[in-house]
Amino acid sequence: MHSFKVLSAKFEEQFSTRQFPDQPHSLYDPAQYILGIGGKRIRPVLCLLGNELFDEIMPDAYHAANAIELFHNFTLIHDDIMDKAPLRRGMPTVHTKYSDSAAILAGDVMLIHCYEHINKVNIRIRTKILSVFNKAAREVCEGQQMDMDLEGTPPEQVNYTDYVNMIALKTSVLLAASLQMGGVIGGGSEGNQEHLYEFGKNVGIAFQIQDDYLDAFGDPEKFGKQQGGDILINKKTFLLLKALELCTPAQKQHLHHLMETNPANKVTEVLQVFHDCRVDEWAEKEKEKFSQLAFEHLEAIAVLSNRKQPLKELADYLLTRQH
Ligand code: IPE
Ligand code: IPE
Ligand code: MG
Ligand code: MG
Ligand code: MG
Repeated sequence: MHSFKVLSAKFEEQFSTRQFPDQPHSLYDPAQYILGIGGKRIRPVLCLLGNELFDEIMPDAYHAANAIELFHNFTLIHDDIMDKAPLRRGMPTVHTKYSDSAAILAGDVMLIHCYEHINKVNIRIRTKILSVFNKAAREVCEGQQMDMDLEGTPPEQVNYTDYVNMIALKTSVLLAASLQMGGVIGGGSEGNQEHLYEFGKNVGIAFQIQDDYLDAFGDPEKFGKQQGGDILINKKTFLLLKALELCTPAQKQHLHHLMETNPANKVTEVLQVFHDCRVDEWAEKEKEKFSQLAFEHLEAIAVLSNRKQPLKELADYLLTRQH
């Protein structure tokens, strides 16, 4: 069994070689740029860990892992255009550094490359891998569109269950599918694959709560994204939705005023309300709730418990991460 650290180094060793042709530079440089500016490589490592839960790591796990990390980076490029984000991994976003058109097309070509990696998977399980991958990819698009649709909805009208469902689609399903693909490659039974998937899905929701938390309260030096980026664009995060529920009528009015008028001190003021209504404490508890659910599914997987240790460690790290 290997730790997250060892597996991310192994993954990186083969992933860091240039993924794309040279020409045309204007197409492939932006694609290579996003891969070169870091990233925690959580999803590919989840795939390797999913494999190793059942058996030794097979070459197919690397093919799937490469496809997954490319897919994730493609979604980030397009997401940053949609979210008008200036920074990613502490560096200028692709569309800021190059252009919107270059970013769109770089993302598109990366998606094609995903399928080239999947095409290398052993024919015996290729169809299964493809269908798990495609389901997740489709759901990420659905989640991203639901996220966009929520932009035009007043926060009080957002139903919490619908919101969690949106998060599950845009963020969690890819973590879940990464684990499941690893499980398929490792020869895990359907039942075990299902629990592995549900483990990933619940970890993913807790992961997004941490992401929203860090966007607001994190150290921008460590987090690598613009501090309060979500607040600046009035994004419906876990924190905002809950704050509007917990705060007093006066605080609510203040929040609405800040969201409508966008004053220069908006981030500081919104954070103050978040603090005052203790939404940061609530986030900690909510994260705990989903991680509990996740661990119940991990428990239910029928393999020796010491094989599950690296997954437990990874989940703990994801939920306490500062970047
Ligand atoms: C960022 O994911 C997008 C979300 C779903 C929150 P990560 O936090 O895994 O991003 P990198 O790859 O490590 O930069
Ligand atoms: C990103 O969600 C999810 C996908 C890219 C599919 P966010 O918009 O919350 O992610 P960050 O905060 O920009 O990383
Ligand atoms: Mg974003
Ligand atoms: Mg987004
Ligand atoms: Mg975010």
